[in-house]
Amino acid sequence: MQFESIREMTQRLMRAAIHSGDRVLDGTAGNGHDTTFLAECVGESGKVVAFDIQAEAITHASARLEAASVKHRVELVLQRHEYLGKWLDNHWPGESLAGAMFNLGYRPGGSKDLVTQAETTISALEQTIARLRPAGLLTVVLYTGHAGGRNEADAVIDWAKSLDPAHAVVLWYQFLNPHNSPSLLAIRKSG
Ligand SMILES: C[S@@+](CC[C@H](N)C(=O)[O-])C[C@H]1O[C@@H](n2cnc3c(N)ncnc32)[C@H](O)[C@@H]1O
Repeated sequence: MQFESIREMTQRLMRAAIHSGDRVLDGTAGNGHDTTFLAECVGESGKVVAFDIQAEAITHASARLEAASVKHRVELVLQRHEYLGKWLDNHWPGESLAGAMFNLGYRPGGSKDLVTQAETTISALEQTIARLRPAGLLTVVLYTGHAGGRNEADAVIDWAKSLDPAHAVVLWYQFLNPHNSPSLLAIRKSG
């Protein structure tokens, strides 16, 4: 038996939470791996919205989605995720999300300066939870190996710990070795 990797655990939990036809969100499109995974999970009748601040990320994610033949299920939005609530209210009014994924840090292959930041990440996570349906799932992968990563991870974990368990239950999954391994926060909205 082997422990599941962060990616395997994230995908297993997300697969259990979302179904064909659902609306889901990727808060950090990056190179499009998670966006493509979500698009495959929600099927032909589902919809994904994915945000990123880098035009290059949108280009890479778009190519990956095209290659997987699921691009038509996805809205790729070149916009900061801290404004995602406004986007959802304007474009998907009255709809709730079955799942949402955030993979923090910088885009592999891209600039390490274009990195997620604690304050805006937490704002985006709060807006996401508010729009999750009961039993909906939010996953956040946290990294501590880059400059600012430890501060962001600590702030996000503190924020998650403060959530009322009557409203959202929080799981934290991490390998304690090697040092500075990424970790997964999985937050299930109650209901
Ligand atoms: C680790 S990468 C995401 C990897 C991606 N999920 C994948 O599957 O390839 C983090 C991404 O967050 C983006 N990012 C940083 N700050 C952001 C913000 N405020 N809003 C949206 N995206 C942001 C970066 O541009 C980067 O592409």
